[in-house]
Amino acid sequence: MSAKRIDGKAFAADVRAQVATHVARLKEESGLTPGLAVVLVGEDPASQVYVKNKGIQTREVGMNSFEHKLDAATSEADLLALIARLNADPTVHGILVQLPLPGHLDSDLVINAIDPAKDVDGFHISNVGLLGTGQKAMVPCTPLGCLMMLRDHLGSLSGLDAVVVGRSNIVGKPMAQLLLAESCTVTIAHSRTKNLAEVCKRADILVAAVGRPEMIPGDWVKPGATVIDVGINRIERDGKMKLVGDVDFASAVEVAGAITPVPGGVGPMTIACLLANTLTACCRAHG
Ligand code: GUN
Repeated sequence: MSAKRIDGKAFAADVRAQVATHVARLKEESGLTPGLAVVLVGEDPASQVYVKNKGIQTREVGMNSFEHKLDAATSEADLLALIARLNADPTVHGILVQLPLPGHLDSDLVINAIDPAKDVDGFHISNVGLLGTGQKAMVPCTPLGCLMMLRDHLGSLSGLDAVVVGRSNIVGKPMAQLLLAESCTVTIAHSRTKNLAEVCKRADILVAAVGRPEMIPGDWVKPGATVIDVGINRIERDGKMKLVGDVDFASAVEVAGAITPVPGGVGPMTIACLLANTLTACCRAHG
């Protein structure tokens, strides 16, 4: 039987509608408008598209969007000075520095210069530590979106075997922490994992976040498993450009219980969660 498709597009629209309702209430009751500052250094085409979409969706939910586009040759000192200004600006509740940064800039240094309370990406070392120790943290947007879809589909995740394929700081590691906090038995698999097929096949929850097109075939999927595909890979097929995930959807959909498609699965949830995090940061800043 074919798996249920988890509709991330509809889910994200729902999250954005809830955020918009809260933002409207906040304005009415406290005169506050949450503000998100996005910093883009250089002209990476994919980053430009993401930043533009973030701005559009931020304004659509009634928040202020502040975009800072800096030259690719911007010095670290100038970027740090901008972050210091944004940290001190009371109209800015969330700060996001679009990654990757040009090679001459130290991403860790830059991210850790953001006020952790405004770190809506959840990448600051303080937020990483808070998440890892089960304390109130800003949670990275993509894993947060994955968790919301998993909870919505499965209810309790307690005791389930979860396999996260990929160990990035942005997705794999925080995803594993979130699943652990839900009382899953968590395995993080990666490029050096032995018998990856067998490891994947044990998973009740399989999260693929490796960035390799269609790497996980249906016969690595446990029958009935919930498959979350974080990959967004641009490939050429039959002379056309196409977006595909890290999972081979055509074969996995025949085995899984539920699966996120690409596009229209995890992707739309990331910005929706960014907006939710910005609202949270604003509410926390104003008690
Ligand atoms: N580049 C790709 N994904 C992300 C993300 O979630 N946040 C930031 N800041 N940069 C990214």
